[in-house]
Amino acid sequence: MLTTLAIIAAILALLAYMFVRYMSATHNTFKKMGIDNPPPNPIIGNFGNVFKYGIFEVQKVFYNQYIDKKVYGWYDSRRPTMIVKDLDMVKDIFVKNFNCFVDRHSLFEVDPPFSDNLLNLKGEHWKHVRNIVTPTFSSSRLKKMAHHIERNTKIMLENLQALQESGTEVEARDFLSAFTLDVIASTGFGLEINTLKNPNNPFATEAKKVINPNPLLFSLILLIPSLTKLFSRLGLSILPQKSLQYFVKVVEAAIEERKRDGLEGKVNDFLDLVMNAEKETGEPHKELTRSELYGQALIFIFAGYDTVSTVLSFTLFFIAMHPDCCKRVQEEIDEKCGQTSPNYDNVQSLAYLDMCINESIRLAPPAFLINRVCVKDTEVQGVKFPKDMVVAVPVYAIHTDPEIWPEPDKFDPKRFTPENKESRHPYAHLPFGQGPRNCIGMRLALLEIKIALATIFQKFTPTRCSKSVYPIQLSKMGVRANDGLWIKFAARK
Ligand code: HEM
Repeated sequence: MLTTLAIIAAILALLAYMFVRYMSATHNTFKKMGIDNPPPNPIIGNFGNVFKYGIFEVQKVFYNQYIDKKVYGWYDSRRPTMIVKDLDMVKDIFVKNFNCFVDRHSLFEVDPPFSDNLLNLKGEHWKHVRNIVTPTFSSSRLKKMAHHIERNTKIMLENLQALQESGTEVEARDFLSAFTLDVIASTGFGLEINTLKNPNNPFATEAKKVINPNPLLFSLILLIPSLTKLFSRLGLSILPQKSLQYFVKVVEAAIEERKRDGLEGKVNDFLDLVMNAEKETGEPHKELTRSELYGQALIFIFAGYDTVSTVLSFTLFFIAMHPDCCKRVQEEIDEKCGQTSPNYDNVQSLAYLDMCINESIRLAPPAFLINRVCVKDTEVQGVKFPKDMVVAVPVYAIHTDPEIWPEPDKFDPKRFTPENKESRHPYAHLPFGQGPRNCIGMRLALLEIKIALATIFQKFTPTRCSKSVYPIQLSKMGVRANDGLWIKFAARK
C-alpha cells in the first residue's frame, strides 16, 4: 500500500515537474535577447499582474517601469511578447516594415467560417480578402448605408423621448448598445430588429452570447494557449457554436431571399456589397468564397458591436459630465445642421464633436492593446525581432502617457485642435490602429457615432443624475465603467 502511494506521489511529482518545465521553457527568451522583462512566474509567466492590476493599470505600471526603454518583454504564460513603446518603432512596424509584421496573433483558434474573418486571417489570404472587402467601405458605399443609420436613429430618438418625459435615469451603455445592434442588423443585413423595444429578439440574445465567450475555457486558453487545439479536438469551443450557427443561418436566409426576390444589389447594406464583390471589381478570382463571405458577415457584427457602443456611450457620458463641452457641441450642431436631421453630409462638418469623440476614445479605447506577429527575422530601429515573435503596442499606456498628454486623466477635447494634433507624434493616438491592417470599419463606426450623438444633442441635453459617478473608474477586466454611465435627459427648448 505504502509503495503504491509512493509510486503515485512520484508520478505526480514527475508530472508536476514536467509541467512546470514545459510552462517555463521559454522564459529565458528575453534574457538571451538582452531585453528587460518583469520576472515571470514559472507557470503563468507575467499574467498574474493582469489579475493584480487589471487590464488598463497593468500597461501603465510596466510602461512606466521601463520608461527609458523602447521595448520590454512580457510572458503571457509561456508565450513571449515584445511590448513596443517607442512611437517611431510602432510606426515602422505598422507601415514601413509592414511586410514583416503582416499577421495578427489570435488569442484562440476558431473553426470556419468564423476563422475566415479579416481579424483572424494571415498572410496572402488576408491580403486577398482585405482587397475585396475594402471597397465596401468607400465614401459612396457609406453614403448609401447611411440611411439605415438615420432610420434607426429616429427610432432611438422616439425611445429617448419617452425616457426623458418620464424623467427616467438611463444607463448610457445599455441604451446605446441596443441601438448599435439595431444599426448592425440593418446596415449589415437589411434586418429590422428593434432591440430597444424588443430586447429579447434572437439577433440580440445570440450576439450577446458571442461577445461573452465561455469564461472558464477563455481563462484556461489565456493561461495555456496550446490548450486550444486540445479543446478543439474534444469538441469544446470558446465561442458558442449554436450562436455562430444562428448568424450563419441569418446570412444564408438573407442571401437566398435576395436572390429569390431579385433584390441583389438593391438593399445597400454590407451583405449586398460583399455579395457583389465580384461584379464590382470586374476581375476574375476576386470573389469571396461562401465561407469567407460568412466570416466577414460575422466579423461585421462582432467587431462593430461592443466597440461602437463603448465609444458612443463613453462620449455621451463625458460630454454630459462637462456642461461647457455640451453647450459647445449643441451650438455647433445648431449652426451646421439647423433643424435638419443629422445625416451623412452634415455630420462631416462637426469638428468639435469629432474632437470630443477622439478624446473619449483616448481615455477608453475599446482596442487597448494591438498586436502583430513578426513573420520573418527583421530589425527595426536597431532592435531585432525574431520570426514568430508576438509584438504588442500598449495603446492605453500610450494614450495616458503624461509626457504626451499633460494631465492625462482629464477629459479635454482641446487636445485635438488641428494645432495640438500637429504638435504631437501622429502615432500617439491609436484607437483604430494604423497602416494597411488598421480598422477597416473606422469610417462606418465614426459615421454611426456622429449621426447618433448629433441626433441626441440636437434634441436633448444629457446631464448628471443621482446615479452618475464621475470621474469614471474603469473595470479591471473590460472597457466598462465600474459604476455604469448613468445620465438623464432634458428636452432642449
Ligand atoms: C469605434 C469603433 C471601433 C474601434 C475603436 C475599432 C478598433 C479597431 C482596431 C484597433 C483594430 C485593429 C487595427 C490594427 O491592428 O492596426 C480593428 C480592426 C478591425 N476592425 Fe475595427 N473598430 C471599430 C469598429 C469597427 C466596425 C464598425 C467594423 C465593421 C464594420 C470593424 C471591423 C474591423 C475589422 C474587420 C478589423 C480587422 C482588419 C484587418 O485585419 O484587416 N471595426 N478595429
